Amino acid sequence: MQDESTERVAGGDSDGDGALLPWVGTEVPGPRARAWVERLAQSECPALTARRKRRSELTGTDHDPIVWTSAHGAIVRDVDDNRFIDLTAGFGVAMLGHSHPSVLSAIERQTRRMVHALGDVFPSDRKVELEERLSALAPWPNAKVILGLSGADGVEAALKSAVLATKRAGVIAFEGGYHGLAHGPLAACGYSKRFREPFAGQLNADVRFVAYPAREAPEACSRALDGVRDALASGTIGAVLVEPVQGRGGVTVGDGPTLSAIVKLAREAGAVVIADEIYTGCFRCADAFCASTVLWNELPDVVVLGKALGGGLPVSACLLRDEVAEAWGDPAGEAIHTSTFLGNPLACAAALAVVNELERPSVREQIRRQSELFWSDVIAPVASDPSCRTTRTGGAGLLVGLGLEGGLARVLTVMRAMLERGYIVLPGGVRGDQLAFTPPAVLSDAQRAHARETLRLVLRAT
Ligand SMILES: Cc1ncc(COP(=O)(O)O)c(C=O)c1O
Repeated sequence: MQDESTERVAGGDSDGDGALLPWVGTEVPGPRARAWVERLAQSECPALTARRKRRSELTGTDHDPIVWTSAHGAIVRDVDDNRFIDLTAGFGVAMLGHSHPSVLSAIERQTRRMVHALGDVFPSDRKVELEERLSALAPWPNAKVILGLSGADGVEAALKSAVLATKRAGVIAFEGGYHGLAHGPLAACGYSKRFREPFAGQLNADVRFVAYPAREAPEACSRALDGVRDALASGTIGAVLVEPVQGRGGVTVGDGPTLSAIVKLAREAGAVVIADEIYTGCFRCADAFCASTVLWNELPDVVVLGKALGGGLPVSACLLRDEVAEAWGDPAGEAIHTSTFLGNPLACAAALAVVNELERPSVREQIRRQSELFWSDVIAPVASDPSCRTTRTGGAGLLVGLGLEGGLARVLTVMRAMLERGYIVLPGGVRGDQLAFTPPAVLSDAQRAHARETLRLVLRAT
């Protein structure tokens, strides 16, 4: 519990509380959250409840969640009227801050006109506009777009495009990679065998996992190149699926020259390179809409965007090089890849608002500056303080992993202690031995300073 802070700082949002400091006035979770979580346990699939139990056993502390009621800027409130700073930006979605005013007004305007259209049959004007804008932002001329509802949807569309374009179903994927949990992407998730094993009988059997070419690990880079060469030699590979910076798998920046060499090898072998930019795209990791365009010297053939693209509404986009898109054939034929909510007008309106924001030089500058400040004001001072007992710090832009001595058990303890002090952070990495930070690009100086001091305090005490 803390004293109420009424300090208001620069920045702000639609309901004016986005730049406040955290305030926690109850146990965490508070009594109302506990009641909601009890109710949740009655109806939710037990998988999620079981994970909390495992975490409690590992750390000896409660891991029941708080229950959110509102989110603006960096601030989240819960059912117990506690106020948190969300250093995850809602899994990276609220890049511009939760409930960004431009996104909200686009949604409100669109709500009054139409919330649903007829997908691929009778599209909405908003869908057409969004696809045009995304095509123009893609790194190739005449790029084509397949919209989806989730990141996994986008990756699925990319994998299908690669099969059509190459007539080969094999996929090269990377150890530690995460691409979503629908069947197509799940088969290529190197993140954890445990995610794939129960469903193995339904998954693509021709996926070759190779080492991820981490920038800081030359040995992994040469293993990655060897692995890619070997797999391509099989003649069955149609796609190479790779994150420019691995996110969930441990915030690892890929080595640009190695990834460029992999793109070349794939091209020589006639395989399609898919850059999964669901986390890294929309300026989170590099000063570009598609991070691969600045991190690699060679362009991929497909880029998948999600998360931040919809500003909080569920939408993803698979951007295709024209030649790859051609493989889908005659659009007058059967629509073999569509869905009821394809190009939902509300989600498209929200995404258009996000794209408009991201095209403004001042917003790009704000994101760039926020990235610098998050590193200099929060991460660097903590990482360089021996009493905080950190290990490897990695990442790019506003995607940061802070390794902790003590592994998962300490990470979970720290995560909980941070929550009790009003900060939302998540574990990261294949072994869960990192704190993962994907903050919104709207933190004030006071919020960053408070986050640093809180993090330092918690790390010293755990
Ligand atoms: C790189 C990457 N790809 C794909 C996904 C899956 O996205 P979604 O959870 O929206 O299906 C994620 C989600 O974290 C991701 O980080």
